[in-house]
Amino acid sequence: MNGDDDGAAEDQGAQPWVPAGAGVGKLRAAAESCRGCELWQDATQVVFSRGPARARMMLVGEQPGDREDLEGEPFVGPAGRVLQEALGEAGIDEEAVYLTNAVKHFRFERRGKRRIHEKPAVSHIVACRPWLEAEIAAVRPAVVVALGATAARSLRERTERIGDVRGQVLETSDPSGTPLVVTVHPSSLLRLRDADDREAGRRAFVADLRTAAALLG
Ligand code: URA
Ligand code: SF4
Repeated sequence: MNGDDDGAAEDQGAQPWVPAGAGVGKLRAAAESCRGCELWQDATQVVFSRGPARARMMLVGEQPGDREDLEGEPFVGPAGRVLQEALGEAGIDEEAVYLTNAVKHFRFERRGKRRIHEKPAVSHIVACRPWLEAEIAAVRPAVVVALGATAARSLRERTERIGDVRGQVLETSDPSGTPLVVTVHPSSLLRLRDADDREAGRRAFVADLRTAAALLG
């Protein structure tokens, strides 16, 4: 951990709200009353997950964005569109994957009427991790994909550069030790202004998704 300013809160986080041994439906319902960190206060609602409760592949994003916060579903905004296209190109059926986030409430800053996405702090990632661990235990995917640094931080419990680990076959740090592939967050591709960079970024993203799909046999 980086600092012990809020150590007690971090040690517990979502834990008291996570029902032991629960399936996805029960977890989703329980997450509505999570008070594991302060992010629930300003968000519209918790955004839990979508996809089959027994999916073989689990994709983990950062946190819900503006659209997701309003709709209550992960990856329904611009990043979700990039993800959907890349999955299609990698030959992965989007309907067959379980989509979730490392942090379940939208963190933002208000600027006038706009809500500007703000990266979750390590304390939020740590607080929310019990939900993700419970999801892995419930879904028991054959492979997990971390979309970006926040998901990788949660799933590996360490801070790494994406460039150092992307595309390798690693393992989640929870007791399941599930095969894990780390890649970029789809929204990082939206931020690339140069067309060639964007195309190269998209290809590398699809290649990482293919690496994960290959683990399904
Ligand atoms: N970005 C994420 O990381 N997750 C979402 O659900 C939407 C955008
Ligand atoms: Fe609970 Fe996670 Fe929401 Fe924090 S972000 S209140 S830990 S569900």
